[in-house]
Amino acid sequence: MLIKKPADIRPSEITSESNYFSRRNFMRAGSIVGAAAIAAPALGAIVPAGSGEKLEGIRPSRLSTDELPNTYEDVTTYNNYYEFGTGKADPFRNAQDFEPRPWTITVDGHAEKTGSFLFEDFIKPFDLEERIYRMRCVEAWSMVIPWVGISLAEVIKSFKPTSRAKYVAFETLHDPVRMPGQSRRVLDWPYREGLTIAEATNPLAILAVGVFGEALPNQNGAPIRLVVPWKYGFKGIKGIVRMRFVERQPKTSWEMAAPREYGFYANVNPNVDHPRWSQARERRIGASVFASKQPTQMFNGYAEHVAHLYDGLKLRRHY
Ligand code: MTE
Repeated sequence: MLIKKPADIRPSEITSESNYFSRRNFMRAGSIVGAAAIAAPALGAIVPAGSGEKLEGIRPSRLSTDELPNTYEDVTTYNNYYEFGTGKADPFRNAQDFEPRPWTITVDGHAEKTGSFLFEDFIKPFDLEERIYRMRCVEAWSMVIPWVGISLAEVIKSFKPTSRAKYVAFETLHDPVRMPGQSRRVLDWPYREGLTIAEATNPLAILAVGVFGEALPNQNGAPIRLVVPWKYGFKGIKGIVRMRFVERQPKTSWEMAAPREYGFYANVNPNVDHPRWSQARERRIGASVFASKQPTQMFNGYAEHVAHLYDGLKLRRHY
């Protein structure tokens, strides 16, 4: 009988949370050993082309939550990605044949360094970190997801934005042939998002390239997507092809679609209801149907890291 060692088991073969946890501790132990070899140069982020392939050289992060992650199945089969359909199961079903390589990311606008970069070159200078984050969707459900990503602050610094850069605007690939959902006008394509420079350079913000220690599955936004855990999930734009440094607050997809319901800031806030439902509580995906909903926390529990960004801003108005 063939018995696999923990390191040989891919998270996609595992669905139970306890198994992922033992693997995580194993990875942490590995990274402590790695840290002993301090003189070794950083490898830089390398992500293999196939979605689901194991990522190497991941560092754990102090910014991770200790809450139990959702299962691989929850994270990769219950998704929002309208480019592949509007149902929760559609992205898993319809994105399997999407080919996220070769992939080019264009950086332009008010920065000293601009240009178009192959995904592999774009991420290479940065370290890969595991960030286990609570994620809260505007639809009042939540998950805990073990992302693997690079620091957005580091990426932004490397492009040297000028003093005119007040915001960063992001865009998803626009290609209705490869993203069949874009042939329906459910949103004004391409999907667009944005952050203030202060938000984008907060240490919590990352560009995720993996999940559960593996390259991002297509349905989660391969090869690269934004993760800002103190904001509602729709800010986490997937399949990014453009980052632009701009002076004015950029228009974002959900704000354009329904401005009374979805604002630019979209900070998780249990005290400001959506016009059609309460935001005070949330349903944890995967929890027992008998479990009661849990209270939503201000800034999704990340207030100590981000509340200062909004000093003086009226959160009820700037929702
Ligand atoms: N990015 C693009 N390009 N298109 C989308 O439809 N949906 C958003 C966000 N990013 C979306 C997107 C929404 S509403 C949510 S809740 C998160 O992705 C879901 O991310 P997940 O499926 O990886 O959990």
